[in-house]
Amino acid sequence: MLLFIDSADIGDIRALADTGLVDGVTTNPSLVAKSGRKFEEVLAEICAVVDGPISAEAVATDYDGMLAEGRKLAKIHENIAVKLPLTPDGLKACLALSEEGTPVNVTLCFSPVQALLAAKAGATFISPFIGRLDDGAQDGMELIREIRTIYDNYGFETQILAASIRSVTHVRLCAIAGADCATLPPAVFKSLYKHPLTDAGLEAFLKDWKSTGQSIL
Ligand code: G3P
Repeated sequence: MLLFIDSADIGDIRALADTGLVDGVTTNPSLVAKSGRKFEEVLAEICAVVDGPISAEAVATDYDGMLAEGRKLAKIHENIAVKLPLTPDGLKACLALSEEGTPVNVTLCFSPVQALLAAKAGATFISPFIGRLDDGAQDGMELIREIRTIYDNYGFETQILAASIRSVTHVRLCAIAGADCATLPPAVFKSLYKHPLTDAGLEAFLKDWKSTGQSIL
């Protein structure tokens, strides 16, 4: 499963990219607002740091506007994936941009049939929002499982990009359910490394090694 960072904070992205384990980045208008940065500048900086798909969301809501914004965003870097909402105009623009060779990430997906439509519209990525469904007492992970089944039934190549991830458990369950990618807030990414037995085990090994009086170098 590919691991993306869900952030527009270049400091966080730079630090995590240094792990060598970041496969891409997703942004959205709320994350850009939080960064306080100019959208196109921050996108160019992200593209220079991470060599993988970088999602940049259009904010127009009509077909012509989405197409124009999508084309402009795609010019920033060859790795840009234009993010479009799951609306009739969004999917129409998805078809057009995909036919032009621009990858599209269809966002704000909350149902399996929405994901079916996005795949038929040629989306490169579909972004089901797990956390927001869970927040509303629905089962976000069931959505991932159902989309996986539908895409496998018909051989759709659209990649399932699990979004709105809130925890390490979400990441684990997405991987088990067969999501192609997951986009993680920086704090969740950092938590993936952690286990108390790893820390305790390392401490014990180092203590015992010290008692030998040896050094490797
Ligand atoms: O970027 C889309 C998605 O990951 C947003 O997550 O936490 O705002 O529901 P969240």
